[in-house]
Amino acid sequence: MFHSKFARTGIAAAAAVSVLALAACGGSGGGDGDSDLISVGFSQLGAESGWRTANTESVKASLTEENGIALTFVDAQQKQENQIKALRDFIAQDVDVIAFSPVIETGWDEVLQEIKDAEIPVVLVDRTVDTTVEDPFATWIGADFRLEGEMAGEWVKENHPDAKIFELQGTLGSGAQVDRQEGFGAVVGAENIIGQATGNFTRAEGKTATEAALQAYPDLNLIFAHNDDMGLGAIEAIEAAGKVPGKDIILVTVDGVRDGLQALHDGKFNFVVECNPVFGDQIVELIKKVHAGEEVAKETIVVDQTFDQTITQETIDARLF
Ligand code: AHR
Repeated sequence: MFHSKFARTGIAAAAAVSVLALAACGGSGGGDGDSDLISVGFSQLGAESGWRTANTESVKASLTEENGIALTFVDAQQKQENQIKALRDFIAQDVDVIAFSPVIETGWDEVLQEIKDAEIPVVLVDRTVDTTVEDPFATWIGADFRLEGEMAGEWVKENHPDAKIFELQGTLGSGAQVDRQEGFGAVVGAENIIGQATGNFTRAEGKTATEAALQAYPDLNLIFAHNDDMGLGAIEAIEAAGKVPGKDIILVTVDGVRDGLQALHDGKFNFVVECNPVFGDQIVELIKKVHAGEEVAKETIVVDQTFDQTITQETIDARLF
């Protein structure tokens, strides 16, 4: 059985579907219509965070008819069953290429095999899959989540080596959660993490998870949040508890969306590891190569940077996301 990292390495009432340009000019499905457009089915996992909104905007701005793509975009609302249904719909539509961002790593074997049997190439976006299907995708593009966790851990180790850490995790079982947890824990040492809970990558759940953590672990003094949105929810919970975010409780987050960096500039976040969501143009290039049968790299890493409280307002205002 084949197991890649990307072998390790979601319908609520109705998934939000936007058919942007399906089968334009007489149909492009299967590549045998009279259109030159490449038909692409894109299953986005949801709209849970500022990162996801920026990623969706980038995808929709790049996968356009002007760029040679007829896009069918489906938002799975963070439910795997919605994604699986969308992928099956794409097979039924006989699209040229399927692209998707898997909400969690496991549970894709059956549908990936169906896609393979239909001979539709897959471009995996952002997150990874853990599957027994051999050669399940043509190429993957996304961030190095483990490295992001490590970079967060290095800053904590250097600046707050004795911190009592609470880890606010992303959607359990997602590539972003699994790898950030691993990378962070490997650097700071598991014994320094006094509690963990998921906030599902959302501001609301980040707030409730932090409220519970402040009760359960009264001596916690540092939170590592797997994304900015959960960190912003944590700020609300910390302030409601009469404590000062960024001082009484140090906050380290991942993403670097504008709201997160503003919190950093305002002294409420202490350190932010970027996860850049703006790579729609690179997805287009990969789709074109895959569709043309050209060789493509198995993986493309989107490079990240880090930010501390020396960030300027100009840098924040110039951000694309
Ligand atoms: O997979 C990337 C992660 O998903 C981002 O860090 C988070 O904000 C999003 O929900």
